Amino acid sequence: MENIDWSNLGFGYMKADYNIRCKFSNGAWGELEVHDNEYLSMHISATALHYGQESFEGLKAFRGKDGKIRIFRMKDNALRMQDSSVGTLMAKVPVEMFEEAVLKAVKLNEHYVPPYESGASLYIRPVLFGSGPQIGVRPATEYMFIVFVLPVGPYFKGGFQTTPFVIMREYDRSAPLGMGKYKVGGNYAASLVAGQRSHELGYSNIFYLDAREKKYIDECGAANFFGIKSNTYVTPKSSSILPSITNKSLMVLAEEMGLTVERRDVPVEELSTFDEAGACGTAAVISPIERIDDYDKNISYIFSKDGKPGPICEKLYHKLQAIQYGNEPDTHGWVTIVE
Ligand code: PLP
Ligand code: COI
Repeated sequence: MENIDWSNLGFGYMKADYNIRCKFSNGAWGELEVHDNEYLSMHISATALHYGQESFEGLKAFRGKDGKIRIFRMKDNALRMQDSSVGTLMAKVPVEMFEEAVLKAVKLNEHYVPPYESGASLYIRPVLFGSGPQIGVRPATEYMFIVFVLPVGPYFKGGFQTTPFVIMREYDRSAPLGMGKYKVGGNYAASLVAGQRSHELGYSNIFYLDAREKKYIDECGAANFFGIKSNTYVTPKSSSILPSITNKSLMVLAEEMGLTVERRDVPVEELSTFDEAGACGTAAVISPIERIDDYDKNISYIFSKDGKPGPICEKLYHKLQAIQYGNEPDTHGWVTIVE
């Protein structure tokens, strides 16, 4: 392990020492295996390669001031991966197996968990895919589940700093009755062109609108949306967005802070009424939004004039991180301490 500059990490791949694997064949899961190789050998006709039969998860482990490592809401990620299996007809990873694999991956790569002061964390990436061959469009009979980890810094440039986002109606990410609510690779492939275009134009990312009416905010390619106004936390309710575990946590914390929480359709024009807005997710944490430009209508919705995050974003961010790093008691049972 080379010297890692923990405080300047971005969100990029880095090899850790070990990954955990488990194979499903003949209708049953095998034993967890520990590998030090970051490559795998697979069938050229695996359903993951041809028909996108795959799902993944993202969660994080944090090293506290007390030196302990805490994993945030692991069971919720396990359950969401099971949901993705329902959406893609893959074998379900049992919750206990998911948790055991995550714990093992973190423990075996413990020295990749960044130090407390760095503000970085260990990103945990479970992935499940059809590894068995098919050439007709049918689910595989063999699956592979892998958990690997890597230390990461902020996902959007600047971390907890405001950045601009954009709305463009010429791109959809997912359909109302489609796959947007599952964490499957195809959704991310579908977001690459729009994502690149938004970067070229100087934005952090694009906010998709609902594909049917193009009236309501859905989410961006890797995070949910929330807006804040008159002591209210507003976030989209939509069948085509991923149920974010971070967003779910922020809704609880917002309510505990005395805010009203509204999960409902959020019309684009309502953006003009928000005092603050943010993108939230495991990788994004809270990425406060400077402004959202409606590219097609040439309107800018501005949430920060001085480049600083608003007070509620700030409060939510610190509260969430305090729980994740163990500076405040975990009253919701969200944290698993790695023994
Ligand atoms: N939306 C999308 C499309 C994502 O990829 C993610 C990241 O996981 C999120 C939202 C945020 O979800 P979570 O908070 O569970 O990480
Ligand atoms: C996450 O926040 O964990 C994600 O999966 C988002 C992105 C890196 C795809």
